[in-house]
Amino acid sequence: MALSNFHLKPFDEGTLTKLQIFELYTREWLPVFLSPDKPSRSEIHLFDFFSGPGTDANGELGSPLRILKQLNECCRLAGWNKTRVSVHFFDKSPAKIKQLQSNIESRSLKLSGVAFEIRALKFEDAFSECKPALANSNGSKLVFIDQCGVDHVTPEVFRQLVSFPTCDFLFFLSSSTLHRFRDHPAIMLRGKHFFRLTISAPAKSRPLSGSWSSCCGLASCGMKLMFCAYALNAASNGTTQKWSFPN
Ligand SMILES: C[S@@+](CC[C@H](N)C(=O)[O-])C[C@H]1O[C@@H](n2cnc3c(N)ncnc32)[C@H](O)[C@@H]1O
Repeated sequence: MALSNFHLKPFDEGTLTKLQIFELYTREWLPVFLSPDKPSRSEIHLFDFFSGPGTDANGELGSPLRILKQLNECCRLAGWNKTRVSVHFFDKSPAKIKQLQSNIESRSLKLSGVAFEIRALKFEDAFSECKPALANSNGSKLVFIDQCGVDHVTPEVFRQLVSFPTCDFLFFLSSSTLHRFRDHPAIMLRGKHFFRLTISAPAKSRPLSGSWSSCCGLASCGMKLMFCAYALNAASNGTTQKWSFPN
């Protein structure tokens, strides 16, 4: 599907599953920092670098609105008034950012007391501008990277992400991307890099294949990292039957 059309159609089941994972992670992450009466960090930052306009063609919520929905659930937690909360939403498309602003307003998701940064910026520029906040150890950071393809999270970007203190990130990579474009020079180059690093990846009970192996390899920078692979099994009639997490 052409990138510009992504939000003009209903999200497919795989996308909805991905969004559910993002949202559930956010739901569990926020209270860790906002529940305590004496919060361990004075600020939290939520980044969505590929935010999109906020909904699909059917009004199904995309990642930025799901983040705000979960944030709304946390207003009454003990640490809320003692923590500065900032959300940072970026997308390269000015039209999508305008739509996102309007979706946030119309759903009354603009929480008072929360600092909003919603801007049309390319990932490379946004990431560069956000580095001071990402590197600040007074803040806890949650980062969503929902790119199409693999272009933006280069090994260098990945290394920076794992080096930021108190920074969790969810980075979506479709295994089909690497398989489909495996002969593309950019993928081949990254593929080599991924697989070279895989050698020092933490031992797994059974080998992961394809891009999951690649991800594990990239993450073997001495940090504690968790990987979550999910699979959708397509039925012969074109519907999706189930999704699963390999052990
Ligand atoms: C897979 S969609 C993200 C979907 C979003 N997470 C949601 O739930 O709706 C990828 C988005 O990245 C944007 N995009 C593509 N290239 C980009 C770039 N270089 N920098 C920032 N955004 C980009 C597209 O406009 C698109 O909205």
